[in-house]
Amino acid sequence: MLAVPLLTNIGYLATCRAPGAQGDIHPVREAALAWEGGRITWAGPARDLPAALRALPAEDAGGLAVFPGLVDCHTHLAFGGWRADEFEQRIQGATYLEIAARGGGIVSTVRQTRQATEAQLEARARGWLAAMRELGVTTVECKSGYGLDRDTELRLLRVYRRLAASQPCRLVSTYLGAHVVPAEYRERRADYVRLIIDDMIPLVAREGLADCCDAFVEQSAFSIEEARAILRAGLDAGLRSKLHADQLSDGGGALLAAELGALSADHLEHVSDAGIAAMARAGVVAVSLPLATMYLNQPPMPARRLIEAGVAVAVATDFNPGSAPSFHLPFALTLACTLQRMTPAEALKGATIYAARAVGRDAEVGSLEAGKFADFALFDVPDVTQWLYQLQANACVRTVIGGETVWRS
Ligand code: NIG
Ligand code: FE
Repeated sequence: MLAVPLLTNIGYLATCRAPGAQGDIHPVREAALAWEGGRITWAGPARDLPAALRALPAEDAGGLAVFPGLVDCHTHLAFGGWRADEFEQRIQGATYLEIAARGGGIVSTVRQTRQATEAQLEARARGWLAAMRELGVTTVECKSGYGLDRDTELRLLRVYRRLAASQPCRLVSTYLGAHVVPAEYRERRADYVRLIIDDMIPLVAREGLADCCDAFVEQSAFSIEEARAILRAGLDAGLRSKLHADQLSDGGGALLAAELGALSADHLEHVSDAGIAAMARAGVVAVSLPLATMYLNQPPMPARRLIEAGVAVAVATDFNPGSAPSFHLPFALTLACTLQRMTPAEALKGATIYAARAVGRDAEVGSLEAGKFADFALFDVPDVTQWLYQLQANACVRTVIGGETVWRS
């Protein structure tokens, strides 16, 4: 536990405050950071530290870098089994949609998830969250969507609720009943959409089991019309909208996200110019998932076009057993640099304040400024560029959530 509420001799502090462009992370050299009651009271150049705070017992950061706790704003954290066989099939030339069409893909994980007990799902997710904290991750969005039947979806969301209360990472939970149509509804998909709208969304909202509602718009998943009806029902029940949009083809998902005033549209490898313009006007965050791009060998999301149009671009892992079986967010950030041509500073803003905005938590986390939660991590790097350029197994040496050290090397 950090014994004292003041950290001095920080070599490089990226505050990641929101104002300015995607690359403006507002770094401070020779910085100090103070907090009280779990919230930041001051962040800035050490020489400007107010006299009252100078009196606090201080800890020397030894010149290390401090970044806001990273926000992984798109994961499918709880699921049963793995799909390493599909990894090999794709290497040998099968496409993601071909694998899905022959009963693999998401429905394979649905089978394995339905067979898992609540305790098994919880133990696995708990272990992954602990490993994510070691990388400097402090807030994680987690989706349901591998249960699809009533009981298994509720089981996944209950796992997230228990984890939120029993481990230190902050969790944002998202109901993704509209991931794919489950096998038992294949011949009557309209009934499945009705189940989501009439039964599941009201139940999930009433029990307070989710903050957001998500839908996967794709040939193999849901149409624009189905997603619109589902996400509107979510909004009516108080669940903010998110979308898996334009991943494998341009299906108009970005336009729907803008129409609904969604928090985010995610993937967007095939987003149209009209979609980009609409997202910019509506202030929808574009969540890039470069691990999925890499694993599926897709063309990258056109991050430069989005940024130039004024869209905030977040970066997340998409951790799931199919398209992105890794929760290594720093690796995803390096891929955002190389595949999407984002600068390291742009990528860091995408995994902090913009990622927080993508989950509706930017008033509380995502930047280091007075009033926000004291969620931050210390990295043994001189600055953000060296961090993402010389990707190490783990450059994070300590993670702090709400002023409490939750991990140190
Ligand atoms: O975000 N695109 C849809 N859902 C996941 C993939 C899930 C899976 O393949 O199991 C994604 O990439
Ligand atoms: Fe996803």
